This record gives sequence, C-alpha cells and structure tokens, in this order.
Amino acid sequence: MKFGTPLSPGATRVMLLGSGELGKEVIIALQRLGVEVIAVDRYANAPGHQVAHRAHVINMADGAALRALVEQEKPHLIVPEIEAIATDMLVEIERDGLAEVIPTARAAQLTMNREGIRRLAAETLRLPVSPYAFADSLEELQAAIDGSERVRAEPSGTLRRTPRGCIGYPCIVKPVMSSSGKGQSRLDGPADVKAAWDYAASGSRVNQGRVIVEGFIDFEYEITLLTVRAVGASGQVETFFCEPIGHVQVKGDYVESWQPQPMSDAALSRSRNIARAVTDNLGGRGIFGVELFVRGDHVWFSEVSPRPHDTGMVTMCSQIQSEFDLHARAILGLPVNVSLRAPGASAVIYGGMEAAGIAFEGVAEALAVPQSDLRLFGKPESFARRRMGVALANGKDVDEARGRAKLVASKIRPVRG
Ligand SMILES: Nc1ncnc2c1ncn2[C@@H]1O[C@H](COP(=O)(O)OP(=O)(O)O)[C@@H](O)[C@H]1O
Ligand SMILES: [Mg+2]
Repeated sequence: MKFGTPLSPGATRVMLLGSGELGKEVIIALQRLGVEVIAVDRYANAPGHQVAHRAHVINMADGAALRALVEQEKPHLIVPEIEAIATDMLVEIERDGLAEVIPTARAAQLTMNREGIRRLAAETLRLPVSPYAFADSLEELQAAIDGSERVRAEPSGTLRRTPRGCIGYPCIVKPVMSSSGKGQSRLDGPADVKAAWDYAASGSRVNQGRVIVEGFIDFEYEITLLTVRAVGASGQVETFFCEPIGHVQVKGDYVESWQPQPMSDAALSRSRNIARAVTDNLGGRGIFGVELFVRGDHVWFSEVSPRPHDTGMVTMCSQIQSEFDLHARAILGLPVNVSLRAPGASAVIYGGMEAAGIAFEGVAEALAVPQSDLRLFGKPESFARRRMGVALANGKDVDEARGRAKLVASKIRPVRG
C-alpha cells in the first residue's frame, strides 16, 4: 500500500463517523501518518472536526445523507466512532464497494443493538453472559423478571404457552439501543420496575421501548480487554491483546480506568479466549474494546465496541502505542505493538455546568503533578455530566498512577468562558 500526499489525488482518505474525543485521537494518529482525514459529526466544531482536513455536519442515522457524503468524499476507509449510525447503509456501502468499513459493516450493525451482539455471544458463540431477556412493554419486562408463561392465542383459537426464564432481582434494565449508561437502571425489587421501564424509554436512541433485562453479575472487578486485529509477521490478520484495563463505572458511565489490572492466569486466559471468539466472528481489522466481568477465575462477556474504548484513554500514557495509534495502524494494514510502557491511570473531567464556550482553570497546577498529562477535548458546549477532558498519570504501580490521575482531575476547574 502506498501513502500519497494528503489533499492530492493520490491521498489515502479516511472518513470518521463520529468525531468526539476518541475520534479526535484517531484522527491525530492518522494525520501523523500522512493520511487525509474527513471528520463527520452531528454538530459543528466537534473535537475531531478541529484536527481534520475537512469537517462535515450530518445526521449519521440518515442513510441517504450518509451515502451522499461518502459519494462526495470517496474515502477509502470509513471508521465508525459511535454506534448511532445508519448501519444498514454501511452494509450497502461496503457491498457496493464504495469504501471499506472498519472493522466490517456487519460488526457495526451487530454491536449498535444490544440484542444483536448478545444473541451472537450467547446463542451462537455460547460464551458465558448474564441471564437475559428482551421486553417490548412493561408487562413483558415484569414477566421476564418474575419468570412466567407467555400465553398467546393462535389464529385457530388454541392457547399456546411458552415458559420463560426468571431473571429475578437485582437486575439491570437497558434500552437495546443506547450507550454510556443512558436509560439504564438497576432494579432491587418490584417497586423499581415501572420507573426503570419509563427511564429506558426516555434514554433509548431509537426504537423506543425495547429493552434488555439482565441478571446482576456480582463481579469483583470489570475489565476492558483491548483486542487488535492487525496484519502480523505472517502477512495475515492476527490477534493481539493489550494488558487488561480495570475501570470504575458510575451509573453506567466510566469515571476512572487503569492498566494493567492484576488478574489470575486462569481469568486472563479465559478473557482472551472470549475476546478472540468475539473478534474472530466480527472480523476485519482494527481495535475492539471487549468488556468483561470477573470474579475469581470466572469471566462473563458483557459487550464489545468494534472501535477504541473510552476506558482505553489510559493507553495514551500507559502503552507504547495508544489504542488510537493501534487502531490507525491496524486499519492501514501496518504492524502494531501492544506493549505496556508503564502502569497508568485515567480520570474523567466533567463540565460541571450547562454552558457554551467554557474555560478551564488550574491547568498549570494539574500538570505540576509528577508524571501527569491531560487532554481537554475542546467540546463547544458543556453539561454537568459531560466528559470534557481526561487526566492521565503514570506511577510505579497502578495505585500510585490512580492517585495521581484523580489529583490531576481535581485540580481542573471548569468556569464560565
Ligand atoms: N448484568 C450486569 N451486572 C452487573 N453490572 C452490570 C451489568 N450490566 C451492566 N453493568 C454495569 O453497568 C456498566 C454499563 O453497562 P454496559 O452494558 O456496558 O452499557 P453501555 O453500553 O452503556 O456501556 C457496566 O460497565 C457495568 O459496570
Ligand atoms: Mg459498556
């Protein structure tokens, strides 16, 4: 593969669908390799727009708009950064040979809906997952939790009874199409069911009113296992595993992550087997964030992102090649190095207020913390719980790194601009 000059006819062109903080770092990694990058998002001046050759604002869930933009820009590669995309159009684009979708259009399609990836993992690949059921109404949700018979009248008038499993309490309800914990709640008893249903309907991206209910896994810790499918020494696509990333989630949204997460040999080997099974099936080239729950030597598959993962931002300080460098290299068919550089940690910086054009104080104090680093994403608008930046730090071990990353985050003060 030749790498032409950006903005010339021979350029290698990559289109990012979604240009948030993760897309911005992928774009920077691509820019460094002399790739021409087109950044797309649903709003103007998104973080990735600010570092790309060209920026577009479209509704990426609108298939016709998406296709028109692809025909206009003629990218070689399309790199989805978010889930909320007209993935059926990505399938068409791939089929018509307009561009290669990373890692594959099918992977984007299966993972945008919790039902697709859950059925693949549990029913096709037979991987261990939490008990689960899908429901389209409050009544169905209650029945799935209680365990009951579904009774349906056949056209002939006979009643057909289908026994259904019991999820029980505690359990978690999530819209089938949502991310970052939106619309997700934990239910501890029957009194929580109605509120969880209403909240899920409000937090769903599309297709209002289909949820997954999952039995609660009482895990000791959860990890993201970054898994890279890239061309290896054999000349074929091979699978590479980064060191496991531990993280803390609050209300389904990540607040802190670190690498490496200590694990037993058995748990690590099971985790890698699960990650390999899922990513082999999804195929293509690129990085995947495989989310797993762990207790002792037991491992449950939770979900997978066929793209860089938010908890993987820690790799900007902890690995020789960050998850963004790895994604850029993998998609371009280049060799990758998944080695750890030093124990590291990340801590999220929130906007803390609803305002446009905010500013940050305390940056010098934050960066005075030893072995620290910082990303401010440049988002034009802040919300109280919007992720506006991330603190990074290294240490002799993850405990020291976590302490430093949280200290760095605490020094940053968002103020009105
Ligand atoms: N079945 C479960 N048991 C225990 N905790 C869960 C379960 N499902 C989700 N969680 C918690 O909620 C977080 C977010 O859930 P996840 O399914 O990853 O949603 P999202 O797609 O919004 O990231 C998980 O990282 C985990 O901490
Ligand atoms: Mg998740």
